[in-house]
Amino acid sequence: PHAVVVAGARPNFIKVKPVIDALTADGVRTTLVHTGQHYDEAMSGVFFADLGLRPPDHHLEAGSGSHAVQTAAVMTAFEPLLLRLAPDVVVVVGDVNSTLACALVAAKAGVAVAHVEAGLRSGDRAMPEEINRIVTDRLSDLLFAPSPEGVAHLVAEGVPPESVHLVGNVMVDTLLACRERARARPTLAELGLRSGGYGLVTLHRPSNVDDPEVLDGLLAALGEIAGRCPLVFPVHPRTANRLVGRLPAGLRLLGPVGYLDCLALQMGARLVLTDSGGVQEESTVLGVPCLTLRDNTERPITVTEGTNRVVGRSPDAVVAAAFEWLERPPPPRCPALWDGRAGQRISAVLVRTFAGSGGGQDL
Ligand code: UD1
Ligand code: UDP
Repeated sequence: PHAVVVAGARPNFIKVKPVIDALTADGVRTTLVHTGQHYDEAMSGVFFADLGLRPPDHHLEAGSGSHAVQTAAVMTAFEPLLLRLAPDVVVVVGDVNSTLACALVAAKAGVAVAHVEAGLRSGDRAMPEEINRIVTDRLSDLLFAPSPEGVAHLVAEGVPPESVHLVGNVMVDTLLACRERARARPTLAELGLRSGGYGLVTLHRPSNVDDPEVLDGLLAALGEIAGRCPLVFPVHPRTANRLVGRLPAGLRLLGPVGYLDCLALQMGARLVLTDSGGVQEESTVLGVPCLTLRDNTERPITVTEGTNRVVGRSPDAVVAAAFEWLERPPPPRCPALWDGRAGQRISAVLVRTFAGSGGGQDL
């Protein structure tokens, strides 16, 4: 069989790595397509280097833009390529615009769509990712859920149960594979940080950083927390654009860091404050206390079976929760099936489904 695997944004690179490795080990031909949604070295290139991910076979160079402009740019470039490649299946991961764009093109071209990280729902349609999740799942033929509530959402939405596979979490596959290399990095020493002596912040959700009032409130809260526990904050480019003209007091700002450095920073952190989906999961696997600065999460299992707590965006609530967890951290726990074998389970299903197919063109 032949699988086209799509990646476009920072978290996608981390998710496709174990899928490509498992497919390759099982003898499946893969074509890696980079949509170009993220393009800075610090948002793209460094992940290929850190993960040992092979260079993309095709680059669509879609770039930044409004939702419609970016989604359309990916679709327009992906359609002719897909028609030439004529694979058995297009594998999309996560919930970014590239995920939706390629799923939509494939579904209309009559190519099977497999969605890795299916069934996540925040219940909040003001999040662009929620729209991407709902539509991508609706278009998908094979749906790979990381946790049981994902399966439940899909079945409740009318997806045939035989299309849904509970496989575990590919982010965790990559984390476990890279953990020792991250531990060996000089990241903390180079930044003058002591393990257990600082907190890590990541923020990039439009709901937190695009509204100046919300952003200023969160920065003030973080500044207050930093008075008790120094905070390092690798800044996403969306957020960097919003920080122009602002001088967040007390925070140590860095550019976006590579994957191994980010894992090293999480492992050494006493507390993580984030609005990232992936970081909620990683902190749970690492047993590090995590406060999610959002009103909801599409990953509730990190709360019920992990070290995450959803604290909202009110500055007082964020400060109170941080002070509480600096004193009394939650016990480490990890969801079942987050065991480093999700990629292998996904590959096994794809091999079973497409066995015997020659799979289109090499280009
Ligand atoms: C996207 C995803 C989000 C994901 C995040 C991961 C969507 C709708 N959003 O958000 O779900 O959590 O990626 O990081 O797909 N920029 C650069 N350099 C880059 C990339 C972006 O400077 O390499 C800047 C541009 O000004 C761009 C802005 O960041 O307009 C936002 O980028 P975009 O890909 O549209 O959305 P993200 O906020 O990164
Ligand atoms: N990450 C990283 N460098 C950073 C911030 C995050 O390598 O400066 C990693 C993080 O460890 C996780 C992934 O990027 O593996 C999460 O991506 P992001 O927060 O951009 O997107 P989300 O998961 O919210 O979609």
